Amino acid sequence: MEVDRIRDAATILRQAKRVVVFTGAGISAESGVPTFRDALTGLWERFDAQALATPQAFADDPALVWGWYEWRRTQLLRVRPNPGHDAVAALAGLVPTLTVITQNVDDLHERAGSVDPLHLHGSLFAPRCSVCAAPAIVESSTVTSPESSPSSSPAPSPGSSSTAGVADEGRRITPPSCERCGGAVRPGVVWFGEALPEDALETAVLAASECDVLLTVGTSGLVYPAAEIPRVAARFGAAVIQVNPQATPLDTLAVVNLHQSAAQALPALVEALQS
Ligand code: OAD
Repeated sequence: MEVDRIRDAATILRQAKRVVVFTGAGISAESGVPTFRDALTGLWERFDAQALATPQAFADDPALVWGWYEWRRTQLLRVRPNPGHDAVAALAGLVPTLTVITQNVDDLHERAGSVDPLHLHGSLFAPRCSVCAAPAIVESSTVTSPESSPSSSPAPSPGSSSTAGVADEGRRITPPSCERCGGAVRPGVVWFGEALPEDALETAVLAASECDVLLTVGTSGLVYPAAEIPRVAARFGAAVIQVNPQATPLDTLAVVNLHQSAAQALPALVEALQS
């Protein structure tokens, strides 16, 4: 029974000194943010992300790539953290030490109250200069909803690359220029072929190697090196608890598998911890 598994997970967490929560796109799904591999609304299905989320794509057409990320960032301004994010924030007050590690580029953990989550894949809210890497502040003026102002630059010529469909979302925005060097500002996310932020990855691996319990939530566990984190924790003797309505390669690693959604399982887990 799921309630027994919640109780088992709470018993394990109650004895933990150091806890890591490791999250993927699934924890934001109930906020209305599409996951990457969800067959119905997955970002991979609707956009040719492989064609857009690369340094080459940005070099080839900065306005299209910046416009797509601004569209995603705008969408995020319209959604809210869900009870899963809220429960992760509440967990920090129920265990001695909690480290949140996320693969997500949204800011929903922060908005739910989690302090300094480690973003292994960067953040939509940390743009930087593509030339000198200086952090950039994105003025809200560049964030216009798709329904309002027309594209600020001409749509790509007909029959252009496989990303033409994305332009049909009506969004191409010339990226802002860096105030320091004039270079084009780029999204602060990790693109395919790029290394993960060294400090975040190092801190995450250390936290995983030192924790007693790692709670993995809403990740398919397929994309490395981030997917290594739960495996590092298990290798160093931590108990892994998984929250995911679907089976994943982490099922065999987990000592407890909660096959429920994040917004169902996490509040129930926090409630069991408090009882
Ligand atoms: P995926 O889309 O690969 O996996 C999402 C997982 O969440 C799946 O296992 C779903 O079963 C699960 N899920 C869906 N709804 C859920 C819910 N309500 N509650 C809990 N789980 C739910 O997303 P990630 O594993 O995060 O990297 O993908 C990892 C990385 O792959 C992303 O960070 C991205 C992508 O390449 C970069 O962009 C660098």
